[in-house]
Amino acid sequence: MTILTENSQTQNSTASKLPDGPKEGKFIQTVKGILNPLDYLEKKHQQYGDIFTSQFSNFPTQVIISNPQAIQEVFTADSKLFQSGRGNQIALPLVGSNSLLLLDGDRHLQQRKLLMPPLHGDRMKAYGQIIRDTTEKVINNWTTGSLFIAQESMQEISLEVILHAVFGLSEGERYQQIQQAIVNMLNVFSNPLSATFLFVKSLQKDLGAWSPWGRFLRHRQRLDELLYQEIRDRKTQSEPLGEDILSLLISARDEAGEPMSDVELRDELMTMLFAGHETTATALAWALYWIHYLPEVQEKLQQELSSIDVENADAMEIAKLPYLNAICSETLRIYPVIFFAFPRILQAPMQLMGYNIPQGMMISSCIYLVHHRPDIYPEPKQFKPERFLERQFSPYEYFPFGGGNRRCIGAAFAMFEMKLVLAKVLSRYSFELAESRPVLPVRRGLTMAPAGGVRLRVKGKR
Ligand code: HEM
Repeated sequence: MTILTENSQTQNSTASKLPDGPKEGKFIQTVKGILNPLDYLEKKHQQYGDIFTSQFSNFPTQVIISNPQAIQEVFTADSKLFQSGRGNQIALPLVGSNSLLLLDGDRHLQQRKLLMPPLHGDRMKAYGQIIRDTTEKVINNWTTGSLFIAQESMQEISLEVILHAVFGLSEGERYQQIQQAIVNMLNVFSNPLSATFLFVKSLQKDLGAWSPWGRFLRHRQRLDELLYQEIRDRKTQSEPLGEDILSLLISARDEAGEPMSDVELRDELMTMLFAGHETTATALAWALYWIHYLPEVQEKLQQELSSIDVENADAMEIAKLPYLNAICSETLRIYPVIFFAFPRILQAPMQLMGYNIPQGMMISSCIYLVHHRPDIYPEPKQFKPERFLERQFSPYEYFPFGGGNRRCIGAAFAMFEMKLVLAKVLSRYSFELAESRPVLPVRRGLTMAPAGGVRLRVKGKR
């Protein structure tokens, strides 16, 4: 099967060889890619341009693209041309083999259909209140002069919010235990060196409770016990099931009328908890950084916020504020939390930018490199929310949530949460940045987060 767009066919009729790429061995490229992906990507892009071939340990050969036309061809191609779930094996130890992240084909489509509705439409309205109440609870005990790490506080909020969406509740001993178990598990990979354990399979050995992988396995075991207990209790409860994601999954039936097994339920819960909170918390920490790093941005935002009554305004009114939206968009442009859309493993050869890419290779659309193209974003290293007020970008020029049939199912939810949290925090307190140098992104698990988490000091109440 070869799937070609009309455009690529004419452009590529003479194509035959693979794009050029770094000559270093797999191991060196893997180390550079894990420890300093930003530097790796920028240098290779400078050297080889919008399409190059990279080799990383434990992965098929990767063709990395940063050309909007090529990205469009990938995102709009027949979904049967790729396997993305198989390309996401790296997430297997975290989420399990039945996770949406790891599925392909009909099963992927079926699970996606099931998980999308609770993150969209009317359900969002209910989450608005939960997001505001949770933010209130977390920020209530901040006092003038106190120092906090934005990433940690934002994670406290986003974890509680996603627990609510997934379980319909976020209070009680078990939820606190689940919350703690998730934090413990993800913290194992919180720095670039420990994140290496996720990427390099040969390091994934249980050498006891003090070894990184051993620690991870023990935290995961604890979390599994809690999740299975919750699944069992829900299945046997006498009250009718609610509208939360777990209830929805428990009531779902496949074409043969079969319900999801406990393992399938556990994997999907893990997926939502894992994909749905650290990403949003990281984006929020970045937004707080930029707002306090650039006084003119802060001033404009404060002006916009003071034009409405943030405490009592309808959540949708806050979500529609243009400058707040531009700040959130620019935050996800300059340092997208996830640098790449999921890799797509080719099931048949594909013509792309003058090359004939063989079956079995991975196509990786690089969000970071596209977001830093000067032809689309003049002065790409500058944080300028105004660009999002001045023009609209196509889904192949701006795609912090990926695209095509794998586009993030939590995109609307995450943007909504970012806006409500920022509006509440910034209309309540004023802060100063407690960082002496510009903050740069570093690897944190599978995401790219601000180094040190962004320290902020509370200057006072507004
Ligand atoms: C700022 C926050 C977030 C960012 C930057 C982000 C980014 C992404 C990206 C880049 C992808 C891959 C898309 C592709 O390959 O085309 C993805 C997929 C996914 N995201 Fe998000 N995400 C965020 C928040 C969330 C939230 C809040 C949830 C759930 C509540 C979520 C759940 C998922 C899931 C389940 C997938 C897999 C979709 C599939 O395989 O079909 N994400 N996300």
